[in-house]
Amino acid sequence: MDSPEQFDDSSPLEPHSPISTDTPATQPSVLFDDNLNYLLHNFSLDDQYILVTGGLGFIGSHTALELLKANYNVIVIDDFSNSYRDVFDRIQLLASKYHEEKGTSVPSLQLHGHDYRDTNALRALLEQYRLAPRWGSPKSKIAGVIHFAAHKAVEESIREPLKYYANNVSGLVNFVGTLGEFGIKTFIFSSSATVYGTLANSGVPLKEELCVHRPEVIKGDDGIDRIVQPGCTGITNPYGRTKWMCEAILADLAFSDPEWTIVVLRYFNPIGCDPSGLLGEDPRGIPTNLLPVVVKVMTGQYDELKMFGTDWDTEDGTAIRDFIHVTDLARGHIAALSAANEGKLRENFRTFNLGTGQGHSVLEVVNSMEAVSSKPIARTAAGRRPGDVGYCVAVPLRSHEELKWKTEKTLMDACVDICNFLDVSGLSSQQ
Ligand code: UD1
Repeated sequence: MDSPEQFDDSSPLEPHSPISTDTPATQPSVLFDDNLNYLLHNFSLDDQYILVTGGLGFIGSHTALELLKANYNVIVIDDFSNSYRDVFDRIQLLASKYHEEKGTSVPSLQLHGHDYRDTNALRALLEQYRLAPRWGSPKSKIAGVIHFAAHKAVEESIREPLKYYANNVSGLVNFVGTLGEFGIKTFIFSSSATVYGTLANSGVPLKEELCVHRPEVIKGDDGIDRIVQPGCTGITNPYGRTKWMCEAILADLAFSDPEWTIVVLRYFNPIGCDPSGLLGEDPRGIPTNLLPVVVKVMTGQYDELKMFGTDWDTEDGTAIRDFIHVTDLARGHIAALSAANEGKLRENFRTFNLGTGQGHSVLEVVNSMEAVSSKPIARTAAGRRPGDVGYCVAVPLRSHEELKWKTEKTLMDACVDICNFLDVSGLSSQQ
């Protein structure tokens, strides 16, 4: 097994309380006191960790940084299949700088460089954080898991569906099974607006209750209760189906065992990067998402951007998406973790949209990048991409109300930060 790389392991940890310390009012018992004494002597709140799979990827790295800023100790598992080793150093550097400026001590950051499906390596890791209370279920110093590690290229998933089902779905089943054995039952899952499928196009506001996994009673805008049945509509590709299946599996798990607390976060279109320009979207392989392709054009690696679909029923004919700054998105995970660990979720399985609630067209995005960078971005009209929808914008009210989370950054902020990333990484001078 890889030995973890310790980040400032020697530095004292700042007191913090990611988990609620509230205990139910119970009559003390000998057994209870015995167990409590054990936990008090072997476990302090400073000694809590969040496990982040895929923590060096685009969203994972930004979330790891925000966790460290929020005083969580972080353990990253990443196999570098779509990330780079030096991202770890950059997260370290930014977290150090942040805490230095605040005069606070830096939580620990560790890296385990393996596939999250490597059960032997996972078990060895979890063993190090195991707490052994004298009675009851197993306990761990790992207070929660944020699971990003997954394949995510839509087109590849159509060509190689089994690769997607094996990693995203089978991998998840084994992973949560192992976590459960170690008593780690707070789980934040990285899902996608893709689960709404063609519902996005139907003109109805994209609320979480449009895609549920157990029958739910919903109060309509007219104040009348109605039952929503589980299911999904028009998911167009295997990648999207893996996200829906994983959600369904996790809903069943939470229903079967109330000790689990599972939060599913449905991301809309994450863009931008940390304002430092040290972290960014840097996928291996051929990019397919809009902003990475725009960046390739800006850096001269592609001649032009093909705008897929200029005949959508929108003001300028190009598709509309809910582009969310990745730092806002990362902070959504911190909000979800807090709500989960403080017992503030309505149910032990809950889905949330993470989006701004505001749409921008593909053309608007390209023009914004052009304005911010002062560089022309060649573009050409192309036919619609198979499986695309014309409109996909979140209703983020549930996240506002229950997670107390809202986006703060704009499309312009994201464009400025991307240009900064290109400058810092020296990519902008390649043109
Ligand atoms: C895509 C995935 C979605 C996934 C998300 C992750 C599809 C159908 N959906 O969403 O499942 O969760 O990425 O980030 O692929 N565009 C161009 N030219 C390009 C690239 C994109 O015009 O070179 C357009 C697309 O046609 C689309 C918009 O930009 O209208 C956004 O595309 P993209 O960034 O790929 O995101 P989604 O398609 O919304």
